Amino acid sequence: MVLTLLGAGLIGAVIGLIVLRGGFYNIAATQQHYPLIYTVFEEGLQYSVQNHARDIQVPEGLGAPAQLLRGAAVYKANCIQCHGGPGVAPLTQGMSMQPVPGPLVDADVNWETRELYWITRNGIKMSGMPAWEYHLSDNDIWAVVAFVSAMPNMTQKDFRRMTSTEAAAATVTQGEAP
Ligand code: HEC
Repeated sequence: MVLTLLGAGLIGAVIGLIVLRGGFYNIAATQQHYPLIYTVFEEGLQYSVQNHARDIQVPEGLGAPAQLLRGAAVYKANCIQCHGGPGVAPLTQGMSMQPVPGPLVDADVNWETRELYWITRNGIKMSGMPAWEYHLSDNDIWAVVAFVSAMPNMTQKDFRRMTSTEAAAATVTQGEAP
């Protein structure tokens, strides 16, 4: 029994090594992962984020109007090229990635607010999702998270109004408010 198990494990490892070293796995971004590998990665992502984000405290009053305005500006400058936005398609590079950086309209349903913060701050390894920790202030990360959470109820018109030149300029001084 033990020998059979060991033998099976060994054969599995050898096959794995041949596939790996033979370069047989297609790493091209034009093809999805095999369903099994995709499922393992997706589940790994879910559990990892849940675990790492569990102690994060969401600041009180998240989503105040001034913060949403700031979040819209941060989103337009840093996220829209890959994820698109209300009524706005992603740019070509965003549409050519694998995994495809999906629209974030349902992100609020799939993730807790603290998890959205963790993902935005830390990024996702080997997916193309950048870490913003060293590029955005903590206030701006919370602002963009507040904005992403409010996005399901937003129309293209709302987004245009929120990211108009005057609205964006007004957020520069308010940006530091939590
Ligand atoms: C260079 C492209 C790129 C940019 C820019 C980018 N992202 Fe992403 N993002 C990705 C990719 C790729 C994923 C992974 C998608 C997956 O695993 O299915 C992702 C995933 C996410 C997720 C998890 C979504 C989910 O449901 O799996 C969130 C939330 C997110 N990004 C927020 C942001 C925010 C906020 C910004 C701007 C501050 C941003 N992203 C900028 C590429 C990008």
